[in-house]
Amino acid sequence: MLTPSSNLETRAVHAGMEGVREQGSHVPTIDLSTTNPLGDVETGGLSYEELAAGGCLTEGRSAVYQRLWHPGVARFETALADLEGAEGSVAFGTGMAALAATLIATVSDGRPHVVAVRPLYGGSDHVLESGLLGTRVTWTDVDGIADAVRPDTGLVIVETPANPTLELIDLRRAADAAGDVPLLVDNTFATPVLQRPIEHGATLVLHSATKYLGGHGDAMGGVVAGPIEWVEKLRRVRALTGGLLHPMGAYLLHRGIRTLPVRVRAQQETAAELARRLETHPAVASVRYPGLAGQDPQGLVGRQMAGPGSIIAIELAGGFDAACRFTEACELVTHAVSLGGVDSLVQHPASLTHRPVAAHAKPNAGVVRLSIGLEHVDDLTADLMAALDAAAVPQDLGRSSAPAVPEAGVAG
Ligand SMILES: Cc1ncc(COP(=O)(O)O)c(C=O)c1O
Repeated sequence: MLTPSSNLETRAVHAGMEGVREQGSHVPTIDLSTTNPLGDVETGGLSYEELAAGGCLTEGRSAVYQRLWHPGVARFETALADLEGAEGSVAFGTGMAALAATLIATVSDGRPHVVAVRPLYGGSDHVLESGLLGTRVTWTDVDGIADAVRPDTGLVIVETPANPTLELIDLRRAADAAGDVPLLVDNTFATPVLQRPIEHGATLVLHSATKYLGGHGDAMGGVVAGPIEWVEKLRRVRALTGGLLHPMGAYLLHRGIRTLPVRVRAQQETAAELARRLETHPAVASVRYPGLAGQDPQGLVGRQMAGPGSIIAIELAGGFDAACRFTEACELVTHAVSLGGVDSLVQHPASLTHRPVAAHAKPNAGVVRLSIGLEHVDDLTADLMAALDAAAVPQDLGRSSAPAVPEAGVAG
C-alpha cells in the first residue's frame, strides 16, 4: 500500500495497481472489450453522459465503450499522475495525439493563441507552425514569453531538455512569465524520475510515452498530466475525437513505469561517461550534454533536474557528410528514430525528426542525436569510436551539403 511518504521507486512499482490483489491477480488483467454491458437503459444513458463530458467512471455506472473509459488505461494514467505529482492524467494513442488534444481544448476554450519556445520536438513545431488545429503560434525564447502573451493566449509550451539540442529551460522563470496562462512542459526527455515540472510552476506535463515510460520500443502512447479541470477537458476531447490508447499499449506503458527509475538512472550513468569519452575524438566538434562542464550555466541540474539524462547530441567537425557517415557506420547502436529505450539509437535530426522545421530553426546539419540504452559503456564506446573514425575519413558520397526541407512527415 502506498502512503503519502512512499518514495518514487516504490510509487513507480505500486501506483495504479489498486484493486489488483483483490481481484486475485498479481498484475492487471488486459481487458480487450470494446463495449460494456449498460445495465438498464437509464443507467446506461447516464453513464454515457458522464463519461462523454469528461467525468470518470463511478460506482454503479457502466464503462459504456472503450473510447469513453478503459480500466487499464486508467491504471496507467493513475501511475503517471502519481509520479508527476499531478491531480490526474489522460492518455492517448501517441504523444502527438496528446498534444493535439491539448491544442483542441485550448482552441475550444476560445483562446487559440499559443506562445512556444524553440527548440521543440519537430512534430510539435510542425503542428504549431502549420496552424492545422486552429491555433496561432508566436515563437519566442524564455525572456520573450511575458511580452508574447496576449488576451487570447491559451497555452505556453516549452520542452526541457529540448529535442535535439539538449538546451535547458528554467521552468520557474517560464511559469512566472506565463502568469495566468497554463504552462505546458514536454517532459519526455527527463521523465518524472529526473524532473517534475508541476513542482516548478507548470500546469500541464506532456510525455511521448513511446519513449522512456514504455522503455522497450514496443508501445506507442502519449499522456498529459495536470489539474482535474484539464483532465476533464482532455477526456472529453479524447471521447469526442477518439485518439485513445489501446489496452495492450496501456498495459505495456504501465509495466514500463515500474522499472522507470532504474532504467533512467542506469542509462544516465552510461551517457555521462560516454559524453566525456566522445569529447576526446578529433572528428567531434562538440558534445552537447547537460552533465558536461560549462553546459548548464543556469545551474538547473541538481536544482530543477535530478540529473542530465541519457540523450547526447554530438556535432561532427565534418558537418552533414560526416554526420551521415557516422550514423551509417554505427553497428551496435541502431540508426532509427525514437529514443528512451533499453537499446541505444542514433539519428540525424535535421533529416528526420526535425525535417519539417523551418530552415532558420532547424538543428545544425552536422548534429546527430544519440539515445543511450542499457548496453555496457565499453561496448558502446567501441562502436561509437569506430563510427567516428569512419566519419573522419573524407569521402565524396555525392550528398548535398544539407538535407532538403520536405513538405511534411515526421517521426520520433
Ligand atoms: C520530445 C517529444 N515530444 C513528443 C513526441 C511525439 O511523440 P509520439 O511519437 O509518441 O507521437 C516526441 C517523439 O519523438 C518527442 O521526442
